[in-house]
Amino acid sequence: MADQQRYNLACLSCRLMYSPSEVIYRCRRCGDLLSVEYDADLMRPETAKKWRGRSLSVWRYAELLPISDRSRIVSLGEGGTSLNRCSRLGSELGLKEVYVKNEGENPTGSFKDRGMTVGVTRALELGIKTVACASTGNTSASLAAYAARAGLECVVLIPSGKVALGKLIQAMIYGARVIQVKGNFDDALKIVEELCLTQPIYLLNSINPYRLEGQKTIAFEIWDQLDGRVPDEVIVPVGNAGNISAIWKGFRELYSMGLIDKLPRMIGIQAEGAAPIANLIKMGLKEIEFVENPETIATAIRIGSPVNWKRAVGAIKDSNGFAETTSDEEILKAQRLLASYEGIFVEPAGAASIAGLIKLVKNGLVKKDDLIVCIATGHGLKDPDIVLRQFPKPVEVEADVNTLMKLLSS
Ligand code: F0G
Repeated sequence: MADQQRYNLACLSCRLMYSPSEVIYRCRRCGDLLSVEYDADLMRPETAKKWRGRSLSVWRYAELLPISDRSRIVSLGEGGTSLNRCSRLGSELGLKEVYVKNEGENPTGSFKDRGMTVGVTRALELGIKTVACASTGNTSASLAAYAARAGLECVVLIPSGKVALGKLIQAMIYGARVIQVKGNFDDALKIVEELCLTQPIYLLNSINPYRLEGQKTIAFEIWDQLDGRVPDEVIVPVGNAGNISAIWKGFRELYSMGLIDKLPRMIGIQAEGAAPIANLIKMGLKEIEFVENPETIATAIRIGSPVNWKRAVGAIKDSNGFAETTSDEEILKAQRLLASYEGIFVEPAGAASIAGLIKLVKNGLVKKDDLIVCIATGHGLKDPDIVLRQFPKPVEVEADVNTLMKLLSS
């Protein structure tokens, strides 16, 4: 039996409301993006009582997810990722309490799975047959997997030659139609949006409001894993800017429900060569200046015109947070540090939050006693080339123990 629909879609700017039965991504009156808003009677502490006893996962929080028929959920076991206290990293940085939420543990190796389990389930509810996205790699890998599981056709557009190998092969093996676009991610997103507005194809980029609903569970899980404590800072790598907005929505909902009495500061980290949001915040610009030719080795966040920039700027400002940029070199250093100090291997974009934290410490922008959570967004094995390039080939020895001992003592 389908539950009663207990939410609506609301325009972020003019607040015009839309029924969830519509396939719509932008407000017809003002063109802004839409947000899922739940009935007021769900925004109470009682709602969370139902969560107890369910395992840590996206669907633990089903009451605050926009799915009416829970018997049809398309799932691969997403969410429930570890929140690792990183004492070695913390003491290296002179910080007392640093945690890393390892989103690489999701089924396809990134946080995108949280959004796709919800987005693809909604697609089924809406009677969709074909789904599509533009992607720097992880969204396409994730959508391809969930579409396969749901029996939907899947089209993914990726920027030509700029997607990490691990992500490309994921989309291929899951059976998606993979199309390389001569251009960057922003170009690919523009044409896929146009395609989906004129064809019966459902768009599952983060302009789709249901994606962000799944991703907000990162906030719910952090709250659960910290036994109800709220971080002082949550540090998030930012590309198209959906995730930082989603996590902020999650914390705000916990606040509206009366489950927490403070909110974290949201800190967005962008790569220097692709930093329109960080530039806006840091330089106090009035208007965003998109980056025409974004460039960074962290290809996942190589984005010059983030569609969710307004939401993200709102999250950062409303939370009294801030934004920072990091160089490619700082990102690679942070990637190695996290792996070699804590055993957590993340892709370069995922390491941007750690690189950002290092910079914040240097600039005195976080306090020693702060409770800090960094979001590590994607698994390191997605992009092995970047690591191989930095290390010499391992030494080779004869299969002889004496030679080995000699080598080890040298
Ligand atoms: N980290 C990783 C590993 C990502 O794949 C992405 C985005 C981000 C951070 C940034 O998140 O866009 O919500 O600000 N990847 C998208 C993709 C763009 O196509 O896979 P965001």
